Parts: sequence; C-alpha cells; structure tokens
Amino acid sequence: MSETRSGRRDGATDGTERPATGGLPRVEGLPLLGSTLSIGRDPLGFVESAREHGDVVGYDAFGTDFALVFDPDAVETVLVSRADEFAKGEFETGFGELIAPDGVAFTEGEQWRRQRQLLQSSFTPARIQSYATGMVVEAGALADRWDDGETVNLRRALSHYTLRVLTRTLFDLEFGDDRAATVRQATEAISAYASPEQHAVQSVLPAWLPTPTEREYEAAMADLESLVTDLIARRRGTDAAGEDLLSLLARAEYPDGARLSPAEVRDQLVTFLFAGHETTATALTFACWLLAGDSTVREELERELAAVCDGVDPTVADLEELTYTEAIAREAMRLYPPVVGVYREPQAATTLAGRRIPAGTTLQLSTYGIQRDDRWWDDPAAFRPERWLANEDRTGYMDEGGDGPEGRSIESDPDRPEYAYFPFGGGPRHCLGMRFAMTELKLALATVARRVAFDRVTDALDPSVGVTLDPGPLEVRVRRRNKRKTE
Ligand code: HEM
Repeated sequence: MSETRSGRRDGATDGTERPATGGLPRVEGLPLLGSTLSIGRDPLGFVESAREHGDVVGYDAFGTDFALVFDPDAVETVLVSRADEFAKGEFETGFGELIAPDGVAFTEGEQWRRQRQLLQSSFTPARIQSYATGMVVEAGALADRWDDGETVNLRRALSHYTLRVLTRTLFDLEFGDDRAATVRQATEAISAYASPEQHAVQSVLPAWLPTPTEREYEAAMADLESLVTDLIARRRGTDAAGEDLLSLLARAEYPDGARLSPAEVRDQLVTFLFAGHETTATALTFACWLLAGDSTVREELERELAAVCDGVDPTVADLEELTYTEAIAREAMRLYPPVVGVYREPQAATTLAGRRIPAGTTLQLSTYGIQRDDRWWDDPAAFRPERWLANEDRTGYMDEGGDGPEGRSIESDPDRPEYAYFPFGGGPRHCLGMRFAMTELKLALATVARRVAFDRVTDALDPSVGVTLDPGPLEVRVRRRNKRKTE
C-alpha cells in the first residue's frame, strides 16, 4: 500500500459502528438551490471536491438532502451488513418512475424478492456459459465490418453490439436496426432527462412548463412502450415455451402459479433493455479508449491473446486464463464506473461511520469517489491493469522467464477494504447481470483486440453523468491486425 495514503478522515468506522459524534460536515450551497447549480455544471468535479470535507458529507440539491459516502466500510454497512435498514428510497424511486417502476431494479420487499428469484434462472453460471458463443460471434462480426483507417464512434458501435448480444442471448431474438434505434433513442432520452444538468434546469423552471428534453423523453418512451408490447405479443403468439427471459416473461407466471401483472412484465423487459446493454457498453467504450492510449498495456494484451487463444477466437474455456484481459476491464471500471453512485435511504434516522444521518437523507455511495481515493489506490488517476494481478508489476510476464498465463491470477490487495471497489454494487441487491457483464467484457475485448487495434482521434475524455457515466462520442481510428474472412 502507498505511503501517500492519508488514513481515515473524520469519524470513519473501523469496521464496528461507533456512537454518533455529531452532524455531518456539509458542502454549503446557495440559499434555496443548495448545490443544484454546481452539480448541474460539473457533477464529477462536485464529488471530487466534496470528498475533501470528510467520509460522509451532507449537501442539498434538487430539493433533496443528500449525504455522499466515501468510506468503503460504510458502503459495506449499507449494502450488506445492515442492508435491511436501508431502502432504495424516494430519490431512486423517483428515478425508477422514469424507466420501469415495477421492474426488479426498483421494486422493494416481497415483490422484489419474487421477481429476483424468477429472473435469477437466466443468470446461472451454466446459462452465462451458454451465452458465450453469441457474445464472441457478435464481437467478431462488429470488428470484421471495420476497414483499416476507418474512424469509429466507439460508444455508438459498442452500444449497438451490447444490445445485439442482450437480445440474442436473453431474448433469443435477432434485433434489427429499427428496433435497436428505438431502444437507442429511449436510452439517450432518459439519460438526458435524468441528468443532473436537466434536474438543475427543471429546478429553476415552473413545473407546468415542459422542456424540449422532457418532450423528447415522453415521445421516445411511448415508442419503447409499443416495442415492448409488440415483443411480448409476438412471443405469446409463437412459442413462449422456451427458457429464455422473453419467453419467461411472456408466460407471466411465477413458479408457484401466481401471475406477474402486465406492468411487471413490461417493466422487466424495459429494465433489461437498459440495465443490460448501456452499462456494459459504457465499460467497453472506456476500456477500448484507455487501451488506445497505452501501447504497453496493448502489447501485453496481445501477448496474452497469442498465448491463450492461439490464433482463434476465445471460448468459454479460455475465460479463466484471460487474466490480463480481465484486469483491463476491472481497471477501466475502477476509473470510470458506469454507475457512478448507488443510492439508499435509511428507513429511520440512523448512525453511519460515526455520523448521525437524519431520516429522509438520500445516501449516495460514491463508486466514483471511492475508486479514485488515494487512501486505497496508489496513483489513483493512472490506468494500470497490473494493479489487479497477484504480483503487481507483471509487465513482461509473458516474456522468457515470465510465469506464462497459468502463473497469473487476479488478486485484490489484502490491505484494501473490500468496498473500495464496487462497480456492481453489493449485498442482496448486487447487479443481477454481473457475471453476464464480466463474461461479455472479457470475450468482447479479446475478440475485438485479436482483429483490430485503435488509435485515438478524440484526444481528451470529457465524461458526463446521465443514467450511466456517459463517455460521449469518443472516436478512434481502426488499425487492422488480421485479414477479414472475406478478404
Ligand atoms: C458493466 C456492466 C454493469 C454494471 C457496471 C452494472 C452495475 C450495477 C449496479 C451498481 C447495480 C446495483 C444498483 C443498486 O444497488 O442500487 C446493478 C443492478 C442491476 N443490474 Fe447491473 N450492471 C452492469 C450490467 C448489467 C447487465 C448486463 C444486466 C442484465 C443483463 C444487469 C442487470 C441489473 C439488474 C436487473 C439490477 C437490479 C438488481 C436488483 O435490484 O435486484 N446489469 N447493476
């Protein structure tokens, strides 16, 4: 661990809860508006500057009391050890209303438990393995379409890829361009409508005045609604006996024979269309862009692919050995977590990390802030996949005298708190698609990197915050490494 690590700030826990020591340190904003405008201008900058005030930092914005949490042990407390004392809460539920209030990501209590149990069957290890071929075939097809020297909008291309994978694997469906465009428009419209920037605009406008962003959101959601209704009706009209997720939902039945309501069916589909593609596309986009800017990491990746894949596309059997590939995916999500904060609200006034949290406070567990904190990460702003390998400086490990792929493993620093890294959340409500996403990230990176390398066209990152951390239209130039099958 680094000597620069500065130790805990104010009242942080040492794993056990201490009695409350007082109110929260706060970021003081403007009268009435609080920090609304500064967050609207620069949400990530706001998180970074709030971190200087302590481990649990209060602020108000958008008419809500928030507390940003930067202490990994407090994150563990909220998500895992005292999870039943915290609900998704009003802020998160309000966000859910925009997307899918009856979907598994936003329901609570018994309704959530039943939904999660039902959907879990699509995410068992065996099921995920059965999706691997689809993930590789789609990634190969994507990279095979690119010409040498072509400029590619990474975000656009990879969103298209992850949506195709999702519908092919989970829905057993070929998604044509029209349907993909409907989902893309809705995704973009929700992201714009849910962004801190838009919240800031709306908080200074009268409620009766719909903004253009609101109108676009409503039109895009109406199109999505028709698409989802059509998907369900078609599957019911053909054969809904399959084991895929769309058939499961078209049958609309829990294992004990109870029925899902039409709103629940619709909202699960919408949930998966969003949660299942936009997040992974974000992670892949940042990973490819980071790779494009680091020739040492790129070469190391190529050495791993040559050793593990031996001139053909990866398969499920290679996943274990794609260690460096996994380290790249992890490191990209450390620096640029697709979900920048996980929200919870205590059921009653409580104590966290030695601080009193009043009832009604929305806790914002800051993946972005914690995963870039120099107390847990050496040189936190640096892209260093090696930090994930068992024996840190592994550059050159494939050279003569290195251990070879079988000698490597992913290992977290034992001195680092577990929740210093939580891109998939944690506890009972951890990401249902975590294994799906990690498998897809590794297979897609390996399959694409066998065919092409990228050079950056867009020099600097300027991410914004929407539903996910939006990398914007990052452009790269393609360098082909192999000939396409058709050449
Ligand atoms: C890199 C990709 C992904 C990231 C970073 C990510 C992140 C997250 C996070 C942080 C949560 C927890 C939210 C909370 O506790 O409030 C979550 C929940 C969820 N994710 Fe993901 N996710 C990813 C991919 C996926 C995929 C591929 C799927 C489905 C195919 C998926 C489906 C879900 C669902 C259904 C939930 C709600 C679970 C519940 O509340 O029980 N996610 N995700």
